[in-house]
Amino acid sequence: MSTQSGPPAGRKSGLFRTKSVEQSIQDTEEPERGLRRSLSALDLTIFGVGVIIGTGIFVLTGKVAKENAGPATALAFVAAGVVCALAALCYAEFASTVPVAGSAYTFAYASLGELPAWIIGWDLVLEFALGTAVVAVGWSGYVRSLLDNAGWRLPDSLSGSEVAEGFGFDLLAFLLVLLLTGVLVLGMKLSARLTAVVVVIKVTVVLVVIVAGAFFVKAANYQPFIPETQKQPGGAGLDAPLVQLLFGYEPTNFGVMGIFTAASIVFFAFIGFDVVATAAEETRVPQRDMPRGILGSLFICTALYVAVSIVVTGMQNYTRLSVDAPLADAFKATGHPWYAGFISFGAAVGLITVCMILLLGQTRVFFAMSRDGLLPRFFSRTHPVYSTPYRATVLLGVAIAVIAGVTSIDELATLVNIGTLFAFVIVAVGVVILRRTRPDLPRSFRTPLVPWLPAASVAASLWLMLNLPIETWIRFAAWMALGVVVYFLYGRTHSRLAPGSATSRDEPPAPRR
Ligand code: ALA
Repeated sequence: MSTQSGPPAGRKSGLFRTKSVEQSIQDTEEPERGLRRSLSALDLTIFGVGVIIGTGIFVLTGKVAKENAGPATALAFVAAGVVCALAALCYAEFASTVPVAGSAYTFAYASLGELPAWIIGWDLVLEFALGTAVVAVGWSGYVRSLLDNAGWRLPDSLSGSEVAEGFGFDLLAFLLVLLLTGVLVLGMKLSARLTAVVVVIKVTVVLVVIVAGAFFVKAANYQPFIPETQKQPGGAGLDAPLVQLLFGYEPTNFGVMGIFTAASIVFFAFIGFDVVATAAEETRVPQRDMPRGILGSLFICTALYVAVSIVVTGMQNYTRLSVDAPLADAFKATGHPWYAGFISFGAAVGLITVCMILLLGQTRVFFAMSRDGLLPRFFSRTHPVYSTPYRATVLLGVAIAVIAGVTSIDELATLVNIGTLFAFVIVAVGVVILRRTRPDLPRSFRTPLVPWLPAASVAASLWLMLNLPIETWIRFAAWMALGVVVYFLYGRTHSRLAPGSATSRDEPPAPRR
């Protein structure tokens, strides 16, 4: 990485050549490769809430309460929320300093160098692609159950591999991803409007759960608040968390440590605030609005999650909570099926935006990598009318639609967690490095307590990563190894920072702002 202090930094040969912040910003002005700046702080906060509230709260709450933490699930949400808040403070500094599409990828390019940036970009592609597919399949399950209630039944062969005997194609998940791809091609403003409508429905449903549910809470269900520690059944083999293999530490359910195991699972519920950072280039005043959007959406969701988990574990004894639809079923158990239908409807509608924004995040990272030449430049042309990266969007949208249609991806969901946590680590390290290499950059938002807060963010993210299964680590390592091979076969020589490439002969761009 560069050690010079004045602008423009960067441009060193080799695997750790960095792209200066000025150059990243200048690239956004390239004709035919720039995105339209249309989003405000409110749009970003809505986007954040739109992608954050989803499968995590509607589904995982029941599973972790029942299996890992009991009524103390609320504390698991607090723990995961703290890990995310530490990371969010680092993301906010970066997104306000380098307001360019690509999120952690772009930040790593400016601070750590090209190979780490490539690795993180490759990681984010995995996170967002699998995230989109996982949520699309979850959505299709909800919709099928609503259709079932209405007396319509899709043939099993079109209901996905979980339902069908033999090969099954998840038609609804496939169609949803294709439809959302179309919406994303048509523009950010349309996507933002769709998101706003869905967020209103989703937040209303969550508030109804909290307010109506509070009337059915029984104090006895909170006894004991932190159930007694139990050994995890089957905590061995590739299912066991890596921490167990490394330290011979035996993972437990319930008790204080169970809260941390639960936190590494409900972490999924927070994924998405980092996607807000991918829209930096489409934000009108990113220096001011990015920190507001990232921190605001995270704060709102954490408060809602803690309230929902307190209410739900108070409505029904944690041992009896349902694993598939805990919120709806808790109301059924109190004799109020009408609420249950309403909640299922809210979940089905709410998951649409989670899926759409994860897809959006992925196209923006892919677009940024393509604009830098690390992936074919063909994909970074924006649409002449809509100014969206339509080529990358269509390519990825179709690919993910097929993945969502044919794969049973439940077991791959933890990969989404590990990928996100890895990005958090890179971003926190990057903040510290960029402070040293480019102290001169205007930073409208500064992460407090550097380097201590980023160090705490790295430690907290690593801790949650260690709590994920060994199997997940193996898959993650395999995907990363493939990424390194692709980099050496393509990106290294095609990079716009490679010696001899058209850009490397350009005059260094003048600092802006
Ligand atoms: N946070 C999102 C969800 O819970 C990914 O579905």
